[in-house]
Amino acid sequence: GITRHYKFNVELQNITRLCHTKSIATVNGQFPGPRIVAREGDRLLIKVINHVPNNISIHWHGIRQLRSGWADGPAYITQCPIQTGQSYVYNFTIVGQRGTLWWHAHISWLRSTLYGPIIILPERNVPYPFLKPYREVPIIFGEWWNADTEAVITQAQQTGGGPNVSDAYTINGLPGPFYNCSAKDTYKLNVKPGKTYLLRLINAALNDELFFSIANHSLTVVDADAVYVKPFTTETLLIAPGQTTNVLLKTKPDTPNANFYMIGRPYVTGLGTFDNSSVAGILEYESSSSGSLKTLPIFKPDLPALNDTSFATSFSSKLRSLASSEFPANVPQKVDKQFFFTVGLGTNPCQKNQTCQGPNGTRFAASVNNVSFSLPTTALLQAHFLQRSNGVYATDFPTTPLNPFNYTGTSPNNTMVSNGTKVVVLRYNTTVELIMQDTSILGAESHPLHLHGFNFFVVGQGFGNFDPNNDPKKFNLADPVERNTVGVPAGGWVAIRFRADNPGVWFMHCHLEIHTSWGLRMAWIVRDGKLPDQKILPPPADLPKC
Ligand code: C2O
Repeated sequence: GITRHYKFNVELQNITRLCHTKSIATVNGQFPGPRIVAREGDRLLIKVINHVPNNISIHWHGIRQLRSGWADGPAYITQCPIQTGQSYVYNFTIVGQRGTLWWHAHISWLRSTLYGPIIILPERNVPYPFLKPYREVPIIFGEWWNADTEAVITQAQQTGGGPNVSDAYTINGLPGPFYNCSAKDTYKLNVKPGKTYLLRLINAALNDELFFSIANHSLTVVDADAVYVKPFTTETLLIAPGQTTNVLLKTKPDTPNANFYMIGRPYVTGLGTFDNSSVAGILEYESSSSGSLKTLPIFKPDLPALNDTSFATSFSSKLRSLASSEFPANVPQKVDKQFFFTVGLGTNPCQKNQTCQGPNGTRFAASVNNVSFSLPTTALLQAHFLQRSNGVYATDFPTTPLNPFNYTGTSPNNTMVSNGTKVVVLRYNTTVELIMQDTSILGAESHPLHLHGFNFFVVGQGFGNFDPNNDPKKFNLADPVERNTVGVPAGGWVAIRFRADNPGVWFMHCHLEIHTSWGLRMAWIVRDGKLPDQKILPPPADLPKC
C-alpha cells in the first residue's frame, strides 16, 4: 500500500436548506464532507485542524484500527477532543477491508453536519467478486435540522425530554422535492441505459433507520459494512444509522422516457415523536430530454409501512457472508466469554431544580444492563495506557442484568438506571459471544448497536426473550453476516461473536444519537497480548490534551 495525505479544515460555512440558512461546521467548507478514497493496505494520514468554536473529534466508522486505537476518534474514549485552534493527525492503515465506510464527528451531535464517505478499493489488480460496475456512486443519507443541532441536544438534556425531530432527511445533503422550499435541492443521478452502477449507500442520519427504494428498479446487495455478502436482489433495503450497504443497480436496456424517484423513509418502532417524511432523489436516464420533469412521467417506489418489522427481519436474515475460500467467514466456533446485555430506554428520577419532561415526570435515560454510561473528562485509552484508571473508570460493569424480568411482558415498575463509567476488561484474543436483548421498557424499539475496533458476526436473532437453552441451537456459525453495526430487533434479541484481537479501548453504543446521548453506550478494554505486535503502541506526540 501507499501513504495518502488528507487535510481536513473544520470550518464554519453558511448552508441553506428548506429556505433556512445556518452556519454549520464543515470539513473544507463542504457539506456533506469530502470523500476519502484509498485502497486496502494503504496508510492514511489525515490532519484535522479545528477552526470552529466547538471541540472536535473525528471517527473513521468501521475502520478496524488494528493497533491504531489512538486514531479511532470517539471523544473521551480514545482521545481528548481537538480544541479550537489545535490539530491532530489521524494515522492508520487499512488492513483486510475493502468496501464503503464513512467518517463522522464523534462528539456531541456535531456529526449532523460533519460526515462523509470512505471508499476503500480492493488492492491493485484484485477484482470485485461481482461484475465490474460501469460507475460507482456514493449515496449518503443524512438529517437536517433548521435549528442548530447542538442547541437541540442541549435542550433535550436540560429538560430531560426528547429532542426536536429533524426537519428533513437528505440524500447527499439534499432534502428533495417532497419538502417545502426544496425542489431545487434534489439529488439527481444521471445514468446511461444498459449499465451496472455500484451505489455505495451510507446511513449518516442521526436518529432514524431508513428504508430505501428506486421505483421500477431492483437492487442487488453485494456488500455490507465493507464486507462482501452473498448477492441477493431486493426492491427495498433497510439501512440503520452507522451501516453501509453496496448495491448493484442495473439500468434498463433502453431509455425508458420516464424518470424514477429514489426514496428514503424511516423505519420506526417504539415510542416518541418522529418524522415520517421522505427524502427523494431522481434517477434520470441520460438521453431523456433536459427539463424532463415537466414532460416525462415520474414513478414512485412503494415502501414498507413505517413500523414494518417483518420486512426488517426478513431483510436482515438475507444478509450472509460470502464464506468463500477467498473471503472466508472466520466465525469463532468456540466461545471463551459469554455476555448478556439488556439494551433499552429507561428513566432517571427527577431531582430538585431539574426539568423533567420524560415519561411520568422523570428524565429519559438509556442503558446497557441498567448502567447509563457517563463520559469521563479524560480519555479512557490514555487512562488505561498510563495505568491511571482511578477516578476515570471502573471495571465492574455488570455482565449480566441486575434484575432480569420478562422483557416482552409488562415492564417492571422500576425502570430506573444508574449512571457510571464502567468497562468490561477482556484478555487479548478472547472469543466473545454477546447477546443483546431489547428491554421494551418504554416500547419495543430497534437499536442499531455499533462496536468500534472490530467486525462481529451476527450469529442469531429472534423475538421475545432470548432462550439460552434453545436459541443457540439455531445459531448460524457457517455464513453469518460480518459487520460493525447491527439492529437489535424491536422486542427481540441479537447474538454476535467476535475475537478480541485488537488491544485498546473500544466504544460500543446505539448509533441512534439520542440513545447514545441518554447513555446507551459502554466500553470494552482489550488487554495487551504477549508479543510486541499485540500491544498498544505509545500515543502520538500530537495527541490532544483535555
Ligand atoms: Cu459511527 Cu461510535 O460511531
